[in-house]
Amino acid sequence: MPPSQPDYSGPVEVAKDIYWVGNRNEKEFESNAYLRIFRGNGKQFNLLIDPGPSPDFNSIAAKIEQVLGADYNLDLVYLNHQDPDVCINTVYFQRHFPKLQIVTSEDTWRLVRFYGLKEKQFIATENFKTGKIKVKTGHQLRLIPTPYAHFRGACALYDEERKVLFTGDLFGGLTETPDLYAEKSYWEGMKTFHQIYMPTNLALKKAVQDFRQQAGDMQMIASQHGKIIREDLIDYFMEKLESLPVGLDLKNESRLVVENHIKAFNDILDSIEQELDGSIVSTLLSSFKSDGSFPNNFVIKNNRIYSLKVAVDTAYKLFSEELCNNLSPEQHPIVKSIVVNSLADWNIASEAPCPGDTESEQQNSAMEDILEEGKSESSPPGDSPLDFEKKELDSLLDDLMGSN
Ligand SMILES: [Fe+2]
Ligand SMILES: [Fe+2]
Repeated sequence: MPPSQPDYSGPVEVAKDIYWVGNRNEKEFESNAYLRIFRGNGKQFNLLIDPGPSPDFNSIAAKIEQVLGADYNLDLVYLNHQDPDVCINTVYFQRHFPKLQIVTSEDTWRLVRFYGLKEKQFIATENFKTGKIKVKTGHQLRLIPTPYAHFRGACALYDEERKVLFTGDLFGGLTETPDLYAEKSYWEGMKTFHQIYMPTNLALKKAVQDFRQQAGDMQMIASQHGKIIREDLIDYFMEKLESLPVGLDLKNESRLVVENHIKAFNDILDSIEQELDGSIVSTLLSSFKSDGSFPNNFVIKNNRIYSLKVAVDTAYKLFSEELCNNLSPEQHPIVKSIVVNSLADWNIASEAPCPGDTESEQQNSAMEDILEEGKSESSPPGDSPLDFEKKELDSLLDDLMGSN
């Protein structure tokens, strides 16, 4: 049974002394912020991780106050990378807490200083020669750089005591529900987010390998968007992520293949208009418009699909799932034959839409699930065509980063 979801209207203690203090707008694209309280040696030290975008400030500040009381102090802000959705509230917190210090990488600081942050209170991750931040309470936080995932200077933070890994945008994702904890279905939104924002699978593979090596006992992944991943699904999402083609990898998709998909989608829309009901098409196309918090996956012009922002297989999955959601069960057989014929016309081999209509289809899809799970358990690492040896990865990234 999946674990229950907490009430996200207030702070949520996701591990002892670690609080989710983010906001939920009930949009596709949500941001997370985390408060870590260290206690020891008779002292308390309050750390805020990725303080979030300005529209979330009130909500984040209120949640921190609920945890620490009205008279609280913040000692340190940690910034994974430079984006405003990660950092901008640091400016406002620093006005309230003039001694508030900031730890981030030098590459990140070079940009975030333009937000108006105080140079004297900046400490570079590179200054921690052991690769660990040692807090005055005796606790340690391990710094794990994740170059080009998605920014050159991005750096994850591992709480060794609580075994929580703070990953910034990595493992972030779009969400259909505001719930905090991930289930397997979170993968679709995570995949789309990474395909758009991560530059290359090489960076993902390197990050995941380093996480396994340096935070191998982690029990939770706390990213800056979307859902928190608990221990039972960590391997599931890490395996998915390290073999995902993203960004430039997708540019390897042939232009003709992409065009064939767009033409097939539009042929399907034409046939549905002619043979069924034009309102299905307009409802479908309007459902592809995002809620404004994230770009559309399809670019629509003149009531037809004009281009794709995601890989063709993801586009087909989104297209066919949304299409089925807009049909009555009686319309499924007609649309299935329209889709199958249109895909065949454009030489596209994909599964028919609206699975699970008949008992035998349900059995087939259950069998595919089992086979899929069996495959991921039995495949040895290194099977993927995108796999690289760690040594090669390190040297490729060293080349990319120069001699730093
Ligand atoms: Fe980012
Ligand atoms: Fe972000």
